[in-house]
Amino acid sequence: MKYLKECWYMVGWADDFAPETLVPFTLLGEAVVIFRKSDGSFGALEDRCCHRLAPLSCGRLEGDDVRCMYHGLKFNAQGACIEIPGQERISAKVRVRSYPALERHSAIWLWMGEGEADEQLIPDFVGVNHPDWAMVPGRMDYQAHYRLINDNLLDLSHLTYVHNASDSFAAEDQWALSKMQVQPISRGVRVGRWIEAARLPGTLGQSDEITDRWTTYDFLVPGIFLLYVYVFEAGTAARCNHQEPPANLTPLRQNFTCQAVTPLTEKTSSYFFAIGPNVEHADKKHLFFQMANTAFAEDRQIIEAQQKCIDRSPDVAIMPLAMDQAVTRFNRMFDEMIAAETGRLNLREVEADAVHQ
Ligand code: FES
Ligand SMILES: [Fe+2]
Repeated sequence: MKYLKECWYMVGWADDFAPETLVPFTLLGEAVVIFRKSDGSFGALEDRCCHRLAPLSCGRLEGDDVRCMYHGLKFNAQGACIEIPGQERISAKVRVRSYPALERHSAIWLWMGEGEADEQLIPDFVGVNHPDWAMVPGRMDYQAHYRLINDNLLDLSHLTYVHNASDSFAAEDQWALSKMQVQPISRGVRVGRWIEAARLPGTLGQSDEITDRWTTYDFLVPGIFLLYVYVFEAGTAARCNHQEPPANLTPLRQNFTCQAVTPLTEKTSSYFFAIGPNVEHADKKHLFFQMANTAFAEDRQIIEAQQKCIDRSPDVAIMPLAMDQAVTRFNRMFDEMIAAETGRLNLREVEADAVHQ
């Protein structure tokens, strides 16, 4: 199983990590233990003591250090062993791997690569306590390959069908029928489309108000979804020639969701999300969250069923169609990035072997 390593993966919301607690997390099949340090910053170590391979998450946090509670080895937040009971000299080889970990936008991010952890690559999430947005965070776990969840988010034509019954966010033919505009951006794709002359779903609008909505999302590696919805008076889409509305056109309302799909193992994934309106409509934030939760449970149901179907016949290929434009473009780029990174890693290994011969 090949993953992109040189990128940030979301491992939780900041509030999920209580002080003085070792939190085990499986990421890309690797067991990691995550903890808050005394200054509030984060540490992350391989969750396997190098002595006799007991999990460090069963250990004890002592200040910013982690003590294995099998035979007492103590490791600092960089992974170096700094104490071995009954032994004075400690070889530099006695260590565990450490991972760059940091908090940004109310979320905790881990860098899984060997290269420099580039903070510029942390996605533009909006967390709780933001001055412009009233966001509510959530998490859902999946028994499915993370890229099936990516594919679902990359193609919102599914809203018409998967979310048909619940009237959660869609229930409109237009998600499937409207023309989408797909363009490549750095590390992902941008997809925009108009939903015209439609009632806002559920109780989000003012009674039966009919509006046009410009919906635009960026989908970035390894599984980051940033969706803005701008609500305008009906007729705006036609006035904009069905193109992106100009930046100086003020919407009646707007809402945002940021989401991160994180592979735990080959077929288990975590799905983190925050959703909400701009702060002027903060009173509706729990409504947004409830509707999102309903919708995301519907997504999970079809995706986990899809995973079982794929497992029953793993050699059957998918059949991409016009609606899959964004999925296809993103996946091609993502596969190329993974292949390039894997190639570089292999090259480094070959070079290292040559040096040691
Ligand atoms: S297994 Fe950790 S100290 Fe022995
Ligand atoms: Fe969905």
